[in-house]
Amino acid sequence: MNKCSIAPSILSGDFAKMGETVANVQKWGADLVHCDVMDGVFVPNITFGMPMIKAIRPYTTLPLDVHLMITEPEKYVERFCDAGADYVTFHPEASKDARDALLKIKAKGKKCGLVVNPDKDFSLVENYLDLVDMIVLMGVFPGFGGQSYIESVSDNIVLFAQKIKESGRDILLELDGGVTEQNAERFRSLGITVLVAGSATFKAADPEKAIAVMRG
Ligand code: DX5
Ligand code: ZN
Repeated sequence: MNKCSIAPSILSGDFAKMGETVANVQKWGADLVHCDVMDGVFVPNITFGMPMIKAIRPYTTLPLDVHLMITEPEKYVERFCDAGADYVTFHPEASKDARDALLKIKAKGKKCGLVVNPDKDFSLVENYLDLVDMIVLMGVFPGFGGQSYIESVSDNIVLFAQKIKESGRDILLELDGGVTEQNAERFRSLGITVLVAGSATFKAADPEKAIAVMRG
């Protein structure tokens, strides 16, 4: 079975100790740090913005995988890049000009990606396959950690993995939401190459072991 990268979401970490939290994520053997930015408009929750990315940047050498759940991401992507993001992903339906936002991220020398909710299909991203470095499939509706995986997303995983293969481009396929030690192997076998794991990391008795199990 293919190994894949693990990206713990700091949404489930201790907000009073975020520096320590990202340092721990690296110590536990994770591959990326997933940062969930929510604006209370695109999703019904508010988390943090550029200052948090800048604040945690010195505490880890792992890539910061910044998931923007905000309206008009094109207005902010450059500032997230400047704050220290390595990957910046956003939901294309929240953007007035998704290509412009992707190009702005690329111009900063960073990796860009698009996020697909459980009720969306491949048509949402097909016009951008020439640009994206990552596609994120949501395993839950965004807004909160700790939700259960929506089974119907598995059809999209198979389809998107096939489309990425056909594109001939090196595009990561990330699954975000509902990942556990129990279901990770199934997602790896379906073609996922990056697993986001918020509660599965931070609520584990032994986070290091949980990350190793999910990676395969
Ligand atoms: C949901 C966020 C996810 C979330 C995942 O809106 O985008 O990244 O933190 O949490 P778990 O892994 O607990 O489902
Ligand atoms: Zn996320």
